[in-house]
Amino acid sequence: MRRALLCVLPGWLSACHGVQGGDGEVLMRMYEQKKVKPFAPSPVFADGHGMRMPPAGTVPRDAELEWRVKPPFTAALLEKGRHRFNIVCAACHGHLGDGNSRVATHMALAPPPSFHTLGERTDEHLFAVIGKGFGLMPAFPDISLEERWGIVGYVRALQLSQHAPLSMAPPAERERLLREGMP
Ligand code: HEC
Repeated sequence: MRRALLCVLPGWLSACHGVQGGDGEVLMRMYEQKKVKPFAPSPVFADGHGMRMPPAGTVPRDAELEWRVKPPFTAALLEKGRHRFNIVCAACHGHLGDGNSRVATHMALAPPPSFHTLGERTDEHLFAVIGKGFGLMPAFPDISLEERWGIVGYVRALQLSQHAPLSMAPPAERERLLREGMP
């Protein structure tokens, strides 16, 4: 106990085995200490297993991690993306993603580009641009990873929407477009 107390005083660090020096030494100390290895038995628990099941209903704190990999672009995800895009991105890139916005007219140095003339960019690149920013564009780290993918999917939908052949429209919509003279 006394030793543990001494360890928290910076001036006494040298009194603690393995704590001084680089990370290697610290890790070594944990490596050496007694512990239950994964899948090893343990007499401590009634079921004899060292590994514990989390209590029912536990939510993992790293739930966000699963969104690091691109999910399928479902309609529900794109809907979330549309919502967030119109709140955050449209102010600069325009609601159609064509770079037509009030803000753009005031950003002469590097105006927000149109997504329709941007050229090849991978989904992963778009995802990274949202979280990290790009050149003069600020980063948006507060947008959840799920919503970032939703936005990427929605940007793809916007890109498609500006170049889609009439044959891709559902029959009813196709008729309406022809009637209104917008083939
Ligand atoms: C404050 C204005 C602003 C907002 C809001 C904004 N952008 Fe941008 N964006 C820019 C500007 C300016 C550039 C060009 C930056 C440069 O070239 O230095 C840019 C560039 C980009 C690029 C091109 C990157 C490349 O590889 O060339 C993408 C993609 C992009 N933005 C996506 C988004 C998305 C998605 C959102 C919403 C989450 C968003 N932007 C929100 C201003 C903005």
